Amino acid sequence: MALGTSPGTNRTVLVVSGDQAFLDGTSRFLTDHRVLAARNVTEAQRRIVEDGVDLAIFDPSYATDAGVSDGGQLLHVDPELPLVLVADTLDMSVLRTALRIGFADVVDAPVDRAKVDGMLELIEDQAQRAVLKEAKARIGKIITIMSPKGGAGKTMTTANVALQLAMWGDPSRVVIVDADLQFGDVCIAMQIDPIHTIVEAAQDLDKLDDQLLESLLSTHSSGLRVLAAPLEPSLADKVSTQAVVRVLGLLKRMFDYVIIDTAPFLDEPVLSILERSDDVLLVVEMDLPNVKNAKLALDTLKLLKFPLGKIKLVLNRMNSKARLDIGELERSLELEVQAAISSDKLVPRAVNEGEPVVSLYPRSRVAKDLRGVARLVVDYESTPEIAEGEGQRKWFG
Ligand SMILES: Nc1ncnc2c1ncn2[C@@H]1O[C@H](COP(=O)(O)OP(=O)(O)O)[C@@H](O)[C@H]1O
Ligand SMILES: [Mg+2]
Repeated sequence: MALGTSPGTNRTVLVVSGDQAFLDGTSRFLTDHRVLAARNVTEAQRRIVEDGVDLAIFDPSYATDAGVSDGGQLLHVDPELPLVLVADTLDMSVLRTALRIGFADVVDAPVDRAKVDGMLELIEDQAQRAVLKEAKARIGKIITIMSPKGGAGKTMTTANVALQLAMWGDPSRVVIVDADLQFGDVCIAMQIDPIHTIVEAAQDLDKLDDQLLESLLSTHSSGLRVLAAPLEPSLADKVSTQAVVRVLGLLKRMFDYVIIDTAPFLDEPVLSILERSDDVLLVVEMDLPNVKNAKLALDTLKLLKFPLGKIKLVLNRMNSKARLDIGELERSLELEVQAAISSDKLVPRAVNEGEPVVSLYPRSRVAKDLRGVARLVVDYESTPEIAEGEGQRKWFG
């Protein structure tokens, strides 16, 4: 056979037939492959389990409604296995039943080389579909850090959680979006000098695709990427909600983790970000104004029917003087505290050094706390080997 016309070699093809003539006739066109025979479906199931099969071909005795539903049993063993029925006459009702059950194809008898090659191609198609399915399943996780109070620790949490996820996995699969459009300071906290910002993405919205967006990202020394906030507050207007939404849609296909720092209010861009988030970290400091604002924000989100289950409550500056009762706080917010971050002067020191505390002082207690926060949002598929040996710390009871 000429090169390129053969649809792969060394496949395992199972012929389900009690008819020796059919078996011989079909095997003639499968000389490059391993051919297994099964006299009935029970035997075929065993073959699939024991030998592994790439394709199953049924003889015309299966070309009835009962026959195809019997044959369809093989899909219970291997749901991805391409099944082909060979039929003497193409009865529409049987054809429909076969396709509904999940047969990949029905061809008319007798088989010839072209038909067998066509069947073998189904193996390739199936593999292709599996790849596409996997690619589709690999859509990144959007994690938003919010707080309705300035200074609560959003940016500190964003930078540290992102860097921790990057250190546990592949830094080039992590991107931060600085969506605090007026006063974004992620780049300052991470010592990045951005050349491009989200403003350019918004201005080129019609042309925006993966490649253009990629070229607008800055890179931190760890390798994680950042889409910088506008360089001055007046430029925030240039970034429409539509632009933010489009950027997120692209980034979640380009990265495993999209981590978003936000402004301390519930305006339209922030709401549309929240709507698209898989996880939301609500950062609350231990004082009354923080708790009051968190309550108001949660009430608003409830009114908007936002799924509150996505929100994970994180307390910041745990051991500071203005201590509130945790139980009272949880009752008031109707949320359980899921992680807490100590107050530590290493945090501002790290900010001044331009390097998040999880990498600058990894052994500190506050870094440990921040790893606890990162664990709340880690995706075990993209980050299977997260640091062991530091069980979730129990703050309360
Ligand atoms: N746990 C903490 N311990 C000590 N200082 C902190 C802590 N969390 C935040 N800070 C400091 O508080 C200030 C505000 O934090 P930031 O993350 O910028 O808040 P936000 O982004 O919510 O406005 C920063 O100077 C930061 O270094
Ligand atoms: Mg901030």
